[in-house]
Amino acid sequence: VLEEKDAAEAAPCPHAAFRAHSLDEIPGPTNWPLVGSLFELLRKGGLTRQHEALVDYHKKFGKIFRMKLGSFESVHIGAPCLLEALYRKEANYPQRLEIKPWKAYRDLRDEAYGLLILEGKDWQRVRSAFQQKLMKPTEVVKLDGKINEVLVDFVGRIGNISNNGKIEDLYFELNKWSFETICLILYGKRFGLLQEKVNEEAMNFITAVKTMMSTFGMMMVTPVELHKSLNTKTWQDHTAAWDRIFSTAKVYIDKKLKRNATRAPDDLIGDILHQSSLSKKELYAAITELQIGGVETTANSMLWFIFNLSRNPSAQKKLLQEIREIVPPDQDPSGEHIKNMPYLKACLKESMRLSPSVPFTSRTLDKDTVLGYYAIPKGTVLMINSHALGSNEEYFDDGKQFKPERWLRENNTINPFAHVPFGIGKRMCIGRRLAELQLQLAMCWLVRDYEIVATDNEPLDVIHSGLLVPNRELPVAFIRR
Ligand code: HEM
Repeated sequence: VLEEKDAAEAAPCPHAAFRAHSLDEIPGPTNWPLVGSLFELLRKGGLTRQHEALVDYHKKFGKIFRMKLGSFESVHIGAPCLLEALYRKEANYPQRLEIKPWKAYRDLRDEAYGLLILEGKDWQRVRSAFQQKLMKPTEVVKLDGKINEVLVDFVGRIGNISNNGKIEDLYFELNKWSFETICLILYGKRFGLLQEKVNEEAMNFITAVKTMMSTFGMMMVTPVELHKSLNTKTWQDHTAAWDRIFSTAKVYIDKKLKRNATRAPDDLIGDILHQSSLSKKELYAAITELQIGGVETTANSMLWFIFNLSRNPSAQKKLLQEIREIVPPDQDPSGEHIKNMPYLKACLKESMRLSPSVPFTSRTLDKDTVLGYYAIPKGTVLMINSHALGSNEEYFDDGKQFKPERWLRENNTINPFAHVPFGIGKRMCIGRRLAELQLQLAMCWLVRDYEIVATDNEPLDVIHSGLLVPNRELPVAFIRR
């Protein structure tokens, strides 16, 4: 997290104190009329390889470059000093790139916006209703019981469904695990996704989220208004998926609110619902978007965490030692145990550096801003290339290697703005603390019960499909200890 103390320790920007140049002077790939750099990007492997293209462009053009894809223009930053400059000049209500298809659905059905799409004062109001509890480690740690309840089933299931230690479609299993966990936390309800026979309601819910996610990308690159007026299949599927998501979420939020009305809330979300002055409509949208934001990101980070430990047996051994030292064999790993497990935390940090789930986030500038040598006008979309930062040897020695120790060295010189897998500033991921606890506990359970082994050592290709995913089934097996 870019806490004040970290930010204060960051190195000063060598770009400061120069006369600012204009946006037009920012270097970048060839900008052809109408198409911009679209064909060049396609030649480099297309949108599924865009994370690699961005790394190449940073190598070629430096810490900042400008790119146009069709009519969409953005400025890319990939240096800690520029992130720090942005952070220091951050507006009260930072904005990300608009997710128009989501807004179009809410407007159609007269539903509210949640944190992922809200802007301005409304965003701040909803954010502060959740921020206090969700970002506070001492509050989030109390969720360990619920997280563990699902983990008991998950580790048991890994044993039950494995074939010689191998799991068919591990990513789907992890998505079910994170879905089950976030639903238990948000709604206080078990959906039973880790049971052998998954009930229909749970399956419909998870399928609806999948459909909603797979249909909005198309409407981000072609006008959503057009899809809506032509009533395209994409638009129909998208709205039908949201209808199902909202109708299911509402049932469980209503139940939770009803429970709160008769007795004091007994968990973090219950407290938030009880204390906030948000309307029911706002709560529906906010909670639903917490769920959307928390499922695949967490599953994906866990997938990479498992992969990195499978390829680094000595780190795994050291981690097992730490687990055995801190967690007595007759106890479940808890949030309190995690506090005393620096190696586990370093392993997660290193995994998220080397194999981030989210390759970039964005900001739309709400005022003219000087970044490095350049004066960037209001309205410009900035892409914060966190993946490019994490893989840059300038900021991480031996950056291609998984080295948790780098985070533990006394006086380590890693710039905190070089590692931003959850974004930066006021608008950073609000689920960060929860995700970290969930991932750390999950790895404790897994490594305690299973040795995670690599089933091959061939390189694993990474593709961009919303998140960064492996291009084949993860070559790992879980061998019971
Ligand atoms: C925003 C990553 C887990 C809910 C974000 C952003 C990133 C991110 C990069 C954008 C931040 C920015 O623009 O500066 C991740 C990763 C996760 C994760 C890598 C798992 C390892 C979660 C969880 C939740 C969640 C568990 C829900 C409890 C959200 C929400 C936002 C957000 C609501 C929008 C916040 C706002 O704009 O105020 N996340 N996230 N995320 N995330 Fe997460």
